[in-house]
Amino acid sequence: MNINAKTVPLGVVGWPVTHSISPELHNRLIEKLGLNYFYSAYPVQPGAMPRALDGMRALGIRGLNVTIPHKEEAFRLCDRLDAYAAGIGAVNTVVNENGCLRGYNTDAPGFIACLRREGVSAAGKKAALLGAGGAARAVAVGLLQNGAAELRIINRTRERAERLASELAARFPGRVRAAANADGADLLVNATSVGMKNSETPFADFDRLGEGCVVCDIVYCPRETVFLRGAREAGLKTVGGIGMLVYQAALAFELFTGMAPGEEAVEELLRRVELKRSVALTGFMGCGKSAVGRELAQMCAAEFIDCDDYIVKKAGKPIPEIFAEVGEAGFRDMESRCIAELAGRSGAVIALGGGAVLRRENIDLLRENCRVVRIKTDVGKVLRNTAGDRSRPLLRGKTPEQVAELMALREPYYQNCDLTVDASKTDPRETACIILDKIAEMS
Ligand code: S3P
Repeated sequence: MNINAKTVPLGVVGWPVTHSISPELHNRLIEKLGLNYFYSAYPVQPGAMPRALDGMRALGIRGLNVTIPHKEEAFRLCDRLDAYAAGIGAVNTVVNENGCLRGYNTDAPGFIACLRREGVSAAGKKAALLGAGGAARAVAVGLLQNGAAELRIINRTRERAERLASELAARFPGRVRAAANADGADLLVNATSVGMKNSETPFADFDRLGEGCVVCDIVYCPRETVFLRGAREAGLKTVGGIGMLVYQAALAFELFTGMAPGEEAVEELLRRVELKRSVALTGFMGCGKSAVGRELAQMCAAEFIDCDDYIVKKAGKPIPEIFAEVGEAGFRDMESRCIAELAGRSGAVIALGGGAVLRRENIDLLRENCRVVRIKTDVGKVLRNTAGDRSRPLLRGKTPEQVAELMALREPYYQNCDLTVDASKTDPRETACIILDKIAEMS
């Protein structure tokens, strides 16, 4: 990326904003299309939106995406609104046309585009929506604007569902109502945050839905929520939230730059972040599996699981205590059980313990569903990364020569992998970028 005096600035504002993958998505598209733009993230505190948007005008920032908690305020502060933004009451994309701020909402058409990619149309559907908050409002408008025959809004607090339904009924008369169940629906969408980073589900009556019902979740982390898993196990078609995230970005990108990224570029972007197959990281202790895994997960908005932490949580005690009580063999048994549980997850980044490779069946099982990526590094970096560490019983009291010896002993085991990445000269973020590029090439 060549930044110069003509580079056009873009970005995302939110609070917090450091979790956002918008910079990854937009900068990738900028690079792919060879444009002179640059997209970054601006943490804008609650209450600071008027000043942020004035700053946008003053600095000539061409475009901003808006995320929580500012979408409603951006709606109030823009000079012009598109039909989706006006209907939803929220703006996620602001385009600066010579100081005139135009507010758009690409969440709703992004959701519709994602359905279309899956061969699903909203037209004529008997749709049901879980939730009545901001995201639900965007999905509702998207569905109604695109021809859903009916929309039932289901929410834990019934009054909120009724309020949203009556507001939407003014624009889409006779098609929308608050309801208590989704019986017979042929499209069901979860627009609550239930299932995000936890194992709860907002709905379980899949057998009462219409035959062939399509079930969507706007939650994308984890990729397959408990809600979606339930639907899949009931034999229904499911659509996860990552597609909507990518499509809303692609649509915003077009508004910012006037260039439609094109189907191929969007597909490439999706392949890059979808993580259809989870990524499992192996490598010797201290090679940076956890640090690289965190970066990788953040770049794809994916779930990150540290296998050692998972074991510690299950066992209720730290690793040195497990070793002291049941020995290395007992620890390996626990590790294998945990790996068997984790191997089936989709769209996750899993950092394995350095010794997980010692049992071939662990890696063979993982390779059925994940890309097993080995992080290779030199003994010097391992020693630096593990200096003073007390959590690894196998390194305690070892001389550098003994560590090198153990590494050499393990070397053949680490070769059982799908990809090897040399991290001896890169930091965790650079290593994560290399891995992402390589696995995107592989899919
Ligand atoms: C081990 C590596 C550790 C941990 C345990 C055993 C090993 O994980 O599972 O101390 O045998 O290599 P890290 O590789 O994350 O340090």
